[in-house]
Amino acid sequence: MKERIVLAYSGGLDTSVAIGWIAEATGAEVIAVAVDVGQGGESLETVRQRALDCGAVEAYVADARDEFANEYCMPTLQANALYMDRYPLVSAISRPVISRHLVAAAKQFGASTVAHGCTGKGNDQVRFEVSIQTLGPDLKCIAPVRDLALTRDKAIEYAESHNLPIETTKKNPFSIDQNVWGRAVETGFLEDIWNGPTKDVYDYTEDPAFPPAPDVVTITFDQGIPTKLDGRPVTPLQAIEELNRRAGAQGIGRIDMVEDRLVGIKSREIYEAPGAMALITAHQELENVTLEREQARFKRTVGQRWTELVYDGQWYSPLKQNLDTFIQDTQKYVSGEIRMELHGGRATIQGRRSDTSLYDFGLATYDTGDTFDQSSARGFIDIFGLSAKVASGRDIRVKGAVDDLSDVAELSND
Ligand code: ARG
Repeated sequence: MKERIVLAYSGGLDTSVAIGWIAEATGAEVIAVAVDVGQGGESLETVRQRALDCGAVEAYVADARDEFANEYCMPTLQANALYMDRYPLVSAISRPVISRHLVAAAKQFGASTVAHGCTGKGNDQVRFEVSIQTLGPDLKCIAPVRDLALTRDKAIEYAESHNLPIETTKKNPFSIDQNVWGRAVETGFLEDIWNGPTKDVYDYTEDPAFPPAPDVVTITFDQGIPTKLDGRPVTPLQAIEELNRRAGAQGIGRIDMVEDRLVGIKSREIYEAPGAMALITAHQELENVTLEREQARFKRTVGQRWTELVYDGQWYSPLKQNLDTFIQDTQKYVSGEIRMELHGGRATIQGRRSDTSLYDFGLATYDTGDTFDQSSARGFIDIFGLSAKVASGRDIRVKGAVDDLSDVAELSND
């Protein structure tokens, strides 16, 4: 029997050419696998047929939209994951779910190798291959663009000479990756980091400078998962999709940044993640209301480490799983409602309400109804500041003063 290779297939030019290219270079049969993670565009059936027309011996398509939303986007939301404080991990979380389907297809069709369309310069090759090795340790990985010299020009030439049913003239200057959690755009004139993005870069969002009337949305969470929008029950997928539309119409979730890739390169990225950014903003605020202070502080550190692990392709690693357990446990009381105004590029919190809130009106109020005993603050501060005060006594003994404050006096005499 011929060797079989499973190819991560998008339906685009490069992976359509890769089917025949891999078969010719290796002598293997190619099985195309397309996974729907909410990237929009053509139907899975159209994509499947194209793979077969381009020479795949089998084509497997999977609607993984709910799986992606439930098992990948929701943990990302619960972690409030923003790489370098800004990027909500759009591509980083789709690679592990696609890898899962690639490994399952390899098993089902008896393939020894998995192929993907990544270059050798990015994070995505690492995320695919680390995930595939973890889920299917016997599988080999190849990347035709990186390993079999499949360049863009050669792909166009190949598609034309073999009459492949794929458009070769439509020139998109950008490299784009998109799914329901957001959209990533890179390359082209964006590689000059002094250049501002032009209108054609964006697709999920409208220009925030010309917004429609404000849109107020109430998001209900149950243990850190959105379950209702404006009182209507929604699945996680529906919540993300609806907020992509509503926050997208207001130009929320545009991100332009220079990012540190795992491979050591700094790269310019434009992201659009309207639904993700609206949800993270709301979820963070509900945590402010429901998490105890020390738990909240520590969770921010854990969330950042979780985010870096996921960015670096470690979705299925032991440490990432340990941190999942911690984050999951913190979400027990993250239930309630957040009311938020979506307008002109911003999601602004207006109200919060929760049966499991730790906000105590009696403790917080400066008006009548105060239940906080202010007389206990004095003793608390004396003891809380004691170790620093003892140290300052030592500094005065040793070098005369902690701070002689002379520059303050000079300034006030001017
Ligand atoms: N730099 C981002 C990341 O590493 C996005 C990569 C998206 N891929 C693409 N072909 N545009 O997660």
